[in-house]
Amino acid sequence: SAAEKGGYDYFMLKEIVEQPRAVADTLLGRVGVDGTLTLDEMRLTPADLRDIEKIVIIACGTSYHAGLIAKYAIEHWCRIPCEVEVASEFRYRDPILDRQTLVIAISQSGESMDTLMAVRYAREQRARVLAICNVNGSTIPREADGVLYTHAGPEVGVAATKTFLTQLVACYLVGLYLAQVRNLKFGDEINAIIEQLANMPDQVERVLATVEPVRELARSLADSETVLFLGRHVGYPVAMEGALKLKELAYMHAEAFAAGELKHGPIALIEDGLPVVVVVPSREGRGVLHDKIVSNIQEIRARGARTIVIAEEGDEAVRPFADQLIEIPAVPTLLQPVVATVPMQVFACELALAKGNDVDQPRNLAKSVTVE
Ligand code: G6P
Repeated sequence: SAAEKGGYDYFMLKEIVEQPRAVADTLLGRVGVDGTLTLDEMRLTPADLRDIEKIVIIACGTSYHAGLIAKYAIEHWCRIPCEVEVASEFRYRDPILDRQTLVIAISQSGESMDTLMAVRYAREQRARVLAICNVNGSTIPREADGVLYTHAGPEVGVAATKTFLTQLVACYLVGLYLAQVRNLKFGDEINAIIEQLANMPDQVERVLATVEPVRELARSLADSETVLFLGRHVGYPVAMEGALKLKELAYMHAEAFAAGELKHGPIALIEDGLPVVVVVPSREGRGVLHDKIVSNIQEIRARGARTIVIAEEGDEAVRPFADQLIEIPAVPTLLQPVVATVPMQVFACELALAKGNDVDQPRNLAKSVTVE
């Protein structure tokens, strides 16, 4: 009913605007005023966590993209090697797991069959399993050794939105907590990041307040056949998520590339008028990547691409090469996906609506895939 949808025509629209709240609820009670993280509910003791030599993240769909982003953060903050794999591939390739491996299973529903089977497999191999889930008491957290719940509230739209942002927050919390219990030398950086993480609800709110032009842009592209997405570093999985959303909702061909791979093939796809969405890395910390992507934008534009650029506010270096500039707040590089994903969601949702699609129930898709 309209009341359930909070006055919106679709749950997805409501769930997109609920994101600041979902992110805040996922942080609630976990970040102390002095920056100390409390994650006792994970049921993995600091002693367990100090032993870990390797992390393997398994997930499907949008949850897999959260895992890809988590890898950048966890390896940087914790210096623990971290692999990420789609759950459906994991147990069929004889993965190397032992007692010192932490497997993190990310699943909104806690019921995806492939993720569940991967969890069972990992436990048989004696790995420790931590679940990141949104649905209380669902199967995956029940079978895991520990769980960190995302507190996004129920998500009805089939395509994940607010649960993705909260999965990112949960992954950051796990990474920062690991860094804290392992007492790493980056203490100051970790504390600064925790402070910024606590600000993310406001930052997401700011993005939502400025996305109106994205809707117009999306409507103007409703007749396009293909949209390409480029990113690098954590912007690469964000680009993948943008492409997935467009497939799921708008039934359009969409593909993401690591911008550094452009010359190894994708640039051959560029033709006059082709929309290309580019996620520009933050200038902080990763300045080199920022400059490289600016030259990528110039390259594709010179070949006729219509460049849709998602960049930090005040990033004047990209402006001359952006046919459309979508500005997001400046936040630390590793946290940028939390804000950069939001315009992608709005873009895909609006484009799908312009095509007359039901964004809550896209064709052929299910909210959770409980068969293999
Ligand atoms: C389905 C949904 C996606 C979701 C994926 C993984 O494909 O349509 O939105 O990302 O399953 O679901 P999970 O519940 O395991 O996160």
